[in-house]
Amino acid sequence: MIEILRSPQALQDWRAKQKDSIGFVPTMGALHAGHGELLHQARKNNKTVLLSIFVNPTQFNDPQDLEKYPKTWDADLALAQKHHVDALFYPQYSEMYADQYRYKVSENQYSLLLDGAHRPGHFDGVLSVVLKLFMLAQPTRAYFGEKDYQQLSLIQGMAQSFFLPIEIVPVATVREEDGLAMSSRNTRLTQEERTKAPLLYKTIRTAGSAEEAAETLRQSGFIVDYVEDLNGRRFVAARIGSVRLIDNVRI
Ligand code: PAJ
Repeated sequence: MIEILRSPQALQDWRAKQKDSIGFVPTMGALHAGHGELLHQARKNNKTVLLSIFVNPTQFNDPQDLEKYPKTWDADLALAQKHHVDALFYPQYSEMYADQYRYKVSENQYSLLLDGAHRPGHFDGVLSVVLKLFMLAQPTRAYFGEKDYQQLSLIQGMAQSFFLPIEIVPVATVREEDGLAMSSRNTRLTQEERTKAPLLYKTIRTAGSAEEAAETLRQSGFIVDYVEDLNGRRFVAARIGSVRLIDNVRI
């Protein structure tokens, strides 16, 4: 049975009783096989697995994106059960942000590039909520996907900078058979958009340069936010219709 913890206090009380290693997987729900892989790694290497589901408003710069964020509670619970999750943290905004977000964590260099340049304040929201979650859960290890590579790097940096005694474990991107990186937002693609979507990954892998990749994507009807090569990786963010997709590969 999964123990459902609905408040920060409930999580703190639960945490105080744990003696063994804790593997923590923070998510915003609408779980898919990518999240499943994080849970699988957490299950394999820890005695106890904690999952959190919290659609964190402070990291959404687009209110429409927040409003349309998919919610699939029953399926999420089933996936959590399948992966033998011990506890699920599912808090309310008012309790996570009792200070109305007066206090926040910001990084002021890398977080302003790539996705940060296109989503003002996004990474402050991510880092702030992840620090709150870490303080409450005090996990041994926390699992993050390479799908959101910039997020993963910033969280690793935060853990180092604040001497957090938590091992940040990167997990490789899980993809559909046609290469499309799994994402909660994929469910919002129309059938036609879904057929086009795998081009994103294919193009950044095969194009000779970032500029060439951007051009190819534009010609296929994507609205490209950016394609950029940075520190040995190629990063892309592009929209098809109303859905914004991101991906990255090592180059
Ligand atoms: P969310 O988008 O739900 O993702 C939760 C975790 O799953 C992140 O670490 C993300 O990188 C990972 N993930 C998503 N798709 C993946 C895939 N196809 N393969 C591997 N891992 C994948 O990322 C967030 O939530 C939030 O920003 C959060 C960290 C929870 C803070 O609010």
